[in-house]
Amino acid sequence: MVEARKLEPRDFQFVEILGRGAYGRVAKAVRKETGETFAVKIIEKAHLKKENKARQALIERNILAKLRDHPGTVRLHHTFQDPENLYFVLEYCPNGDLMDLMNSFEGRFPLELARFYSAELTVILDLLHQRGIIHRDLKPENLLLSQDFHLKLSDFGTGKEINPDPDGTEINRERRGTFVGTAEYVSPEVLLDQEVGREADLWALGCIIYQLVNGRPPFQAMNDYLIFEQIKENRVNYPDTMPYDAADLVNKLLVLDPKGRLGAGNPGEANDMDALKSHPFINSIDIANIFTTPIPCDN
Ligand code: ADE
Repeated sequence: MVEARKLEPRDFQFVEILGRGAYGRVAKAVRKETGETFAVKIIEKAHLKKENKARQALIERNILAKLRDHPGTVRLHHTFQDPENLYFVLEYCPNGDLMDLMNSFEGRFPLELARFYSAELTVILDLLHQRGIIHRDLKPENLLLSQDFHLKLSDFGTGKEINPDPDGTEINRERRGTFVGTAEYVSPEVLLDQEVGREADLWALGCIIYQLVNGRPPFQAMNDYLIFEQIKENRVNYPDTMPYDAADLVNKLLVLDPKGRLGAGNPGEANDMDALKSHPFINSIDIANIFTTPIPCDN
């Protein structure tokens, strides 16, 4: 959207705090002129300076801008700044996040809903990766729910743009000394300080599908260190109650070798993105129209 002028904080009525992080906070805010509600991410410049994160904030903004027309990500409407803060004016998601939704079912999340969200998240990742973006901190808390309960991926604060090279394999793969992500969903290559590419998001996809179906993440322990040990050994239990096709899909995503994961192969290979999208657990879903399909619910 092209605005005649840059917006300012006083154009908004700030209503309540929706979330807090090291970066600052996210506030629900109403634009006075139009009455529209937004979620405004307020990033403190002092924090960016202290933590040397100004570049990452710019990357986050560029990624959000690049994804403005992407139906599965939280839309960026405006950005502005004042001497203290950066402001990202984002689409407001009124129904919380996928973690809240799973908790609300108290372990009895309907299988058809798990299947639907597994397919929707797969499609979101495919679109993201096609645009050369990796998220690197996929987790149920970062999957917000739109008015009609579709998934909206948010928080690109750890995102990264990769440049596809002419063969379709990305360059710019990065080795990172510091851990980015969240313990339960972090991939083994991040823990082993190896190259990290889009396959890290496929690992997290496997963790989230497991959790949607079984009500708990695959790697769980008393502390992060013990979780990391389990991840590095890929120690997963598949409960007897888990449907075979769901377990098969997770098993093909939770593969220690990043290149061996379903969806990681180059086009035409047995484990390419088409093979992931047509896996039996999700191939009954009309993925071409998923963002306009009503979510399955019993009532
Ligand atoms: N919390 C963080 N981002 C949000 C958003 N876009 N909508 C609602 N709550 C949020």
